[in-house]
Amino acid sequence: MSESETMLYVSKIKDGTVIDHITGGHALDVIKILGITGKEKRIITIAINVPSKRFKVKDIVKIEGRELKPEEVHKIALLAPHATINIIRNYNVVEKQRVKLPNVIEGIVKCANPACISNSNEPVQSKFYVKNEEPLILKCHYCGYIMEKSDVLKQF
Ligand code: CTP
Ligand code: ZN
Repeated sequence: MSESETMLYVSKIKDGTVIDHITGGHALDVIKILGITGKEKRIITIAINVPSKRFKVKDIVKIEGRELKPEEVHKIALLAPHATINIIRNYNVVEKQRVKLPNVIEGIVKCANPACISNSNEPVQSKFYVKNEEPLILKCHYCGYIMEKSDVLKQF
């Protein structure tokens, strides 16, 4: 199915952010990361499992009148490592950024091992190595604990 046919499901926005190429089925996780409750007075469009040339299916989230904070982009990268963030102004894509999962993640998520030194009163920031992007596997630098997507989602 072509992009123009996909457009039948989701229309263009005037100003705001389009998060495109979200891993199929993860749009609602992105909504959660962004703290969107549905009570805000903005137009939000969510498309789930729409056909995509690049990845068979994808999710899309469009938010009118709002841009994303770097911390939000980092969190999205954990759940949707192929997502593209498009900034829209007056109907045009003025900026396109592919999210990027770094090899080492510091301070974004907590270690799920309660005994980990990064969870103690010591001033130690969490630090993980990205062992695999999809499915997500993070390994704690301090205790070796393996975290998966579900462990990360619980914290958002
Ligand atoms: N978009 C939108 N409103 C606009 C402009 C673009 O909702 N006024 C959406 C498009 O539907 C698309 C995304 O923003 O989902 C990126 O737009 P564009 O770069 O034009 O599309 P592609 O070239 O298909 O993007 P990519 O190369 O990232 O696949
Ligand atoms: Zn740990």
